[in-house]
Order: sequence, then structure tokens, then C-alpha cells
Amino acid sequence: MRAKGTQIRTSDMTPEHASQLNAQVCALAPVIPVLVIDDASAAENLAKALVAGGLPALEVTLRTPAALEAIAIMAGVKGGVVGAGTLLTDKDVEAAKAAGATFGVSPGATDRLLDACEANDLPLLAGTASPSDIMRLLERGYSVAKFFPAEVNGGVPALKAMGAPLPQMSFCPTGGISLKNARDYLALPNVLCVGGSWVAPAAMVRDGDWAGITALAAEAAALPR
Ligand code: 3PG
Repeated sequence: MRAKGTQIRTSDMTPEHASQLNAQVCALAPVIPVLVIDDASAAENLAKALVAGGLPALEVTLRTPAALEAIAIMAGVKGGVVGAGTLLTDKDVEAAKAAGATFGVSPGATDRLLDACEANDLPLLAGTASPSDIMRLLERGYSVAKFFPAEVNGGVPALKAMGAPLPQMSFCPTGGISLKNARDYLALPNVLCVGGSWVAPAAMVRDGDWAGITALAAEAAALPR
């Protein structure tokens, strides 16, 4: 939403700038942990454990009542770069921004959500699953997107095939990715990093196994790309 009538809203983030910022986030580590947080009291230790293992960029999904509080807490953890995932509405975007998120992630890409993120200066890693999705984002000026849900949408062969006619788009594939297949995604020229929940298993978070989570993060951070 850069123009409203004759008035140009110069403060809105452009898709090009959003893509630059998202490329920087994706460059921080090979993996962005995708976090579903049930209890905000675990947020600080969880973020510290992941950052200590070498994964500074964190996506907290807005799927639980504790998510916004967790984002606010994690935003204060040294070395962490916290984003809000599962953004669906304008309200989600505003709440995520207010909580301290520095990037947003969504399962798909609607014009309304992209408008809201641009107006709120929140770079959106918008979900794509097809060539038409990618073309719509390219037309709007985006060059970095999420590929979701990656494995059920064809995984590595699909990304490779779409990269041939559409090499302008780079991806953070997410959904069904683990330590086993992450390496294959990261080897593709159009993949900047991957997203995944495997580095923060619910049971380890519940048990406060922070050392275990740091070990999983370190293993993920060492993935070649
Ligand atoms: C999600 O939306 O939950 C993410 O895509 C994470 O998927 P994963 O649990 O398969 O890593």
C-alpha cells in the first residue's frame, strides 16, 4: 500500500526493502526454528538455548495465547532476531509489530496481508506453493518468500523445477523439513535457509531441556549451505 489516492505514504516499507531485510534474516543461519509456545515462561530460556546453539533468527507462531508475550520476551534476548509466524490478518500484523517482532511469516500471500505488513514496516516472508504464487509476489516486487508446506508440495524436486523459469525468487522452505532432508534443500541455489520445528521439540521445551535444545540447534547451525 504505497499510494493512497494522491497521497504517497513514504513511510511504508517497499517489497524490495522487505526482501532485503528477509534475505539478511535468512543469512543468519541455515535454519529458522519454527516455535509453537504454550507457556511464555519458557520463552526466555528457549530463545537463549537456540541462540547459544547458533540459531539467532526465531519464528514464534501466533497459534497459542502465549505467542505475543513470548515474542516480547524473546525480543529482549541478546543476539536473538524474533519474527512472528502464522500471520493471517491485519490485526495479527499490528499485534506482532507491537510485541517486538522484526519480521513476519505467513502460510500464504494475500494482498491484504502484504498491504498490512508494508504499512506496518514488517518485512513479510510470505508463503508460496506454486509458480503463480511466486509470479504474483515477483510482480509486486518481492524476491524472497517461504515455500510452504515444502515436503507435501514436492519438496526439493519442486523447488528445483520452479527455480528454472523463476530464478529471481529465493526461498525459505518450511514444513516437513528435518535434519535428514535440510541438507538437500540448502544445496539448491534458490534456497537461503530452511524453517523447521525439529530443533525445539515440545517435550524438551516442557522438560526444560535447554542443553538438549542447544545441542539440536548447534547440529542445525552446522548444516552446510
Ligand atoms: C509450521 O507451520 O508448523 C511449520 O511449517 C513447521 O513445520 P514442521 O513442524 O514440519 O517443521
